[in-house]
Amino acid sequence: MRGKDYRATLQAASEVLGEAMHIVDAKGMTIIYNEAMAQLEKISVGDALGKPFREVFSNIPEEESTLYQALTRRREIRNKQQTYRNIYGKEVTTINTTIPIIVDGKVVAAMEIARDITDIKAMSDTILKLQDSISADTRGKRLPEKGRPPKPSGPKKYHFTDIIGEDPAFVRAIDWAKRSSGNRASVFIYGETGTGKELFAQSIHYGGIRHDKPFLAQNCAALPESLLEGILFGTEKGGFTGAIDRAGLFEQANGGTLFLDEISAMPYELQSKLLRVLQEKYIRRVGGSKDILVDVRIIAAVNEPPEKLITEGALRQDLYYRLNVIGIYIPSLRERKSDIPLLTRYFVSKANEEYGTNIRVVSDKAMEKLMDHDYPGNVRELENIVTTAVSMAARGETLEPDDIYIPEGYRKASPFIAEFARGEETLSGYLQDIEKTVIRQNLAANGGNVSKTARDLGMLRQNLQHKIRKYGIG
Ligand SMILES: Nc1ncnc2c1ncn2[C@@H]1O[C@H](COP(=O)(O)OP(=O)(O)OP(=O)(O)O)[C@@H](O)[C@H]1O
Ligand SMILES: [Mg+2]
Repeated sequence: MRGKDYRATLQAASEVLGEAMHIVDAKGMTIIYNEAMAQLEKISVGDALGKPFREVFSNIPEEESTLYQALTRRREIRNKQQTYRNIYGKEVTTINTTIPIIVDGKVVAAMEIARDITDIKAMSDTILKLQDSISADTRGKRLPEKGRPPKPSGPKKYHFTDIIGEDPAFVRAIDWAKRSSGNRASVFIYGETGTGKELFAQSIHYGGIRHDKPFLAQNCAALPESLLEGILFGTEKGGFTGAIDRAGLFEQANGGTLFLDEISAMPYELQSKLLRVLQEKYIRRVGGSKDILVDVRIIAAVNEPPEKLITEGALRQDLYYRLNVIGIYIPSLRERKSDIPLLTRYFVSKANEEYGTNIRVVSDKAMEKLMDHDYPGNVRELENIVTTAVSMAARGETLEPDDIYIPEGYRKASPFIAEFARGEETLSGYLQDIEKTVIRQNLAANGGNVSKTARDLGMLRQNLQHKIRKYGIG
């Protein structure tokens, strides 16, 4: 193949792959410059291609040009975050990799690949701001206005008295949790979705020695992994251009409790970083160099058996051992059906209050119907069914079977959807991050087997392979 053909092939490949790409030869002539890069830098492909790049980008000083550094000094930069203004003055944030291409010991070219994460960064900032304001609120920093009662702030706080159930195994779990509230050892909760993990975590905090200190919760599955680290540990100016000094959840929760929900969704590398923090009790902000002493109690939760998560490679065994100082298993509702009548009566009276209804009796047949169901959504599902039944009940004081509707295939809304509603992100950017997370988790679950993962995800192997490269999973 002639050089010209190679170039055309490479240019076509770079267009298909979609990452922004810029390659210069040893003389600094631009030989590949694709559409994605043109979009990012807001110039046209024709303006750059075939021209000396130092002329086209004469506004960038040599010592700041990563391509120039790669060519002349063989300097390699991987995954560096940069924020800059494009020619329209819009702030753009990218993750860049620049490498010299060396053949027979000589630099023959330099290549720069950039991924636009402007949208992701905007969302990260929004979430951090929200989290700042929520924690300021719940810590009571805002003084009530004169003569008015303080505004209720933050989500509902649960206590042990809110936990209903008499099943022996369930009561053992409550007892164990109550005892744990007297110390600061890490707690690891496993229970299926809707079994009350949040209820337990909050009760341990608010019923314990740290109750007047902050309780902060983070669902690790709800955030794109690129954001989680900054949210947990904070960010520091200078870490990358445009970064702001901001405390992460560890600093905000200092003295109190941090509830890490769905911890198995945390990226594997971040799990080992978390382990180190737990051992050393110091954190370092992303991009920062100062060690900050933190005193935070960790309550972690998962909704699948931890042994399974460890085997699948979703949960690090060493982290699990470190967190499982106090292990609490909350039995599913299927395993404690004897609690259904008690819970039903509790939810009926709650719903009566809410809707102003007056249901006094649940008929035997209605209770039978409730007892018959298996509740994959556990107590949350029972609560929803009973609350709907009360609000729709046809007859005055008695709940009958035909008031009860048990939907098929009950599922809880994905945490992604709830999180997205909070941000100001574009949908496509957000979906890409979800896609990346899903692919990474499924790959891990299949031990890195691409063919099997592609089958599981219902996509072509080549397609998956492309996405793995595109997202830098590996
Ligand atoms: N034992 C219980 N007594 C009273 N209410 C309960 C109990 N268990 C769960 N609930 C209620 O069920 C709902 C779900 O509970 P919670 O959010 O704590 O579950 P979860 O285990 O965190 O679920 P997920 O894994 O889906 O996040 C809440 O409204 C909670 O009040
Ligand atoms: Mg929960």
